Amino acid sequence: MTSRMTSIDTLAVHAGREDLAGLGAHVPPIDLSSTYPLPDVTVGGDSYEALATGGRPIDGGSLVYQRLWNPTVARFEDALARMEGTAEAVAFGSGMAALTAILLASPKKHVVAVRPLYGGSDHLLATGMLGTEVTWASADGVAAAIRPDTGLVILETPANPTLDLVDISAVAAAAGDVPVLVDNTFATPVLQRPAEHGATLVLHSATKYLGGHGDVLGGVVACPPEWAARLRSTRAITGGLLHPLAGYMLHRGLQTLPVRIRAQQDAAIKLADALIPLTERVYYPGADPLVGRQMSGPGAILAFAVRGGYEAASRVASACQLATHAVSLGGVDTLIQHPAALTHRPVAAEAKPHGNVLRVSVGLEDPADIIADLTQALSA
Ligand SMILES: Cc1ncc(COP(=O)(O)O)c(C=O)c1O
Repeated sequence: MTSRMTSIDTLAVHAGREDLAGLGAHVPPIDLSSTYPLPDVTVGGDSYEALATGGRPIDGGSLVYQRLWNPTVARFEDALARMEGTAEAVAFGSGMAALTAILLASPKKHVVAVRPLYGGSDHLLATGMLGTEVTWASADGVAAAIRPDTGLVILETPANPTLDLVDISAVAAAAGDVPVLVDNTFATPVLQRPAEHGATLVLHSATKYLGGHGDVLGGVVACPPEWAARLRSTRAITGGLLHPLAGYMLHRGLQTLPVRIRAQQDAAIKLADALIPLTERVYYPGADPLVGRQMSGPGAILAFAVRGGYEAASRVASACQLATHAVSLGGVDTLIQHPAALTHRPVAAEAKPHGNVLRVSVGLEDPADIIADLTQALSA
């Protein structure tokens, strides 16, 4: 079983479910308990101490309280960790809750961030509201931006919304001892496993591809044990936890992640080609040398610059009939949105996407239908 479990496709289907047959179940039970019986005060206290400080449940102990541990969420965490190739993972109520916990848990408060990032992440760092101070850097400026009090280097690859790729191992080398956080939301572990390239922390908005159906919010951080303990403790203290029903849905979403990603990517490759003659510029990393080395494929998100500026881009978004004009990404249906007006609205002017750029999350519809819809919208 172990050797067969090394394939990401097999892990996606079976990880976090190995004990089910022994339990006489085919799918994971959903444990909705908000509180758990305590065998006695001493064991209860010891259990609390272990979990509140970020440890795992103790033998013969209690799970005490849902904010400290939930078995359904833990199954999703175990599965995602194995797909990312990290020792552990810790799940949160959203991607932003996950990033918040990382920033709170980081022992040093200076952050070096490589732009572009998702607008919400950019905004959180720019406000400094969590006591962090950010230095914005290009990927090749990371080494120069590191200070003695730098606790994290943050990057996204592919980046939202320009699909820029960043060489993770080069940034990890430049960062030295400083842990590198890679937001892997766009690639997923199917196309890219940042820990294999030197990332310490791998962040997902699980809301996107991991769930895959646009019906659940979540966030998860794949990481080594010392960070998992810090993050679980932070989650227990601050309460940004993932609901068990969401944990169940995200765990189920992982099972189809490889087939969804590959099919959506095939459609995105076709759409990117079709958009070249129709637009000012297509943002898609198909020809980037990091595809093949760091990422196994270019993914299923692309962006394009519309000829005619903001007004024209606005008309195209509204003219789509199959693609839904909506934020978010990574679901089975195609979504189109205007980053400068929406997802990247809070970003400072110098880093904001151009007003004529639209981002498309390519879904599982017939690629010919997606191309036909974008073509008619662009000519509308
Ligand atoms: C790349 C990326 N990271 C993080 C987030 C934040 O995740 P959430 O919306 O689940 O809080 C998003 C949301 O769009 C995103 O696109």
